[in-house]
Amino acid sequence: MSNLSNLLIFGATGTIGRYITDAIVAARPSFGRIAIFTSPNTLHSKPDQLDALRRQGVDILVGDLTNREEVRRAYEGIDTVVSALGRGAIAAQIPLIQLANETPHIHRFLPSEYGTDIEYGPASVHERPHQQKLLVRAALKEVRPSLEYAYVVTGPYADFPFYLGRSTRCPQAGTFDALAKQAVLLGDGTGRVSLSACDDVGQFVVHALTHWDGARNRALKLNSFTTTPADILAEFEAQTGAQWTVEYTSLDQLRSLEREAWAKEAPEATGCTLRRIWTEGGTLYDRRDNEDIGVTETKTLGELVTGSIRSQVEGVPSRH
Ligand SMILES: NC(=O)c1ccc[n+]([C@@H]2O[C@H](COP(=O)([O-])OP(=O)(O)OC[C@H]3O[C@@H](n4cnc5c(N)ncnc54)[C@H](OP(=O)(O)O)[C@@H]3O)[C@@H](O)[C@H]2O)c1
Repeated sequence: MSNLSNLLIFGATGTIGRYITDAIVAARPSFGRIAIFTSPNTLHSKPDQLDALRRQGVDILVGDLTNREEVRRAYEGIDTVVSALGRGAIAAQIPLIQLANETPHIHRFLPSEYGTDIEYGPASVHERPHQQKLLVRAALKEVRPSLEYAYVVTGPYADFPFYLGRSTRCPQAGTFDALAKQAVLLGDGTGRVSLSACDDVGQFVVHALTHWDGARNRALKLNSFTTTPADILAEFEAQTGAQWTVEYTSLDQLRSLEREAWAKEAPEATGCTLRRIWTEGGTLYDRRDNEDIGVTETKTLGELVTGSIRSQVEGVPSRH
């Protein structure tokens, strides 16, 4: 009998879930069964994506993630759960963790993190976007010792339409518009920020699972590279062969934007808070943990700027 890990992935077709799932499938010799749990809605809205996974031998399990019996059936034969559920479903992971805790053959649970460090410093506990993820971490502290976890903390995604993308709804909170050759840089442009490529986020999850001694029961601080808004702009200018028009949003202005967005309950409120945290230095560490899980190569700023320019020229939809 194989002793390879049998995985169940939640949120496998989502924005970051598809990168994670693709990386897991590409690393298939390291894993046993790969299954995803998805909703009837996704079954109908993403048939091509699911067919492609099926063709690669991924089991597609369809159900309601709030239905205990359906999740219990999906857990049969599984030892590792990877969640990439979206922000609207972060709290829904708590019953999934409790059910995993009642399922003795489940040994590992990776909750949906893949972003800002929610325990970066003393102020983190008060940040609104962190609240549900903090509850998820608290739930994982309550489980039996043989149910282990890892938090894959990646900082902001670099790729278009994220940090290196164009924002249409709130460009004052940072934008790189390769068509208009205009940028809004956060802070004074020289503050350092660590970013992760979405492809690398997939690799980070695979490496966490396959280098478990380095990942077990900890928050892994991972990233592709550390840069500054000014260096990003210089790379865009070099690759487009033009000088761009530049504005700055100071940290104080960003804090005002954030307050206004929350007061209006605007959809960009969470993004404004996260960008303020990143601009305050909330993605910087004395050391990163890439090597602890055997990650030695990551994407570069140049590659991601090339991708952003290509996406913008091809008319891929922007961030709002
Ligand atoms: N670092 C960054 O810059 C950054 C950016 C964006 C997101 N993130 C983080 O990445 C993680 C995944 O986010 P995402 O944007 O990739 O997720 P997403 O695309 O919004 O959603 C992923 C999947 O979650 C499932 N889901 C079920 N109920 C949901 C609900 N009520 N609301 C949202 N999703 C639901 C859906 O899959 P099924 O239909 O298959 O169930 C959906 O495809 C989150 O923890 C988020 O905070 C980080």
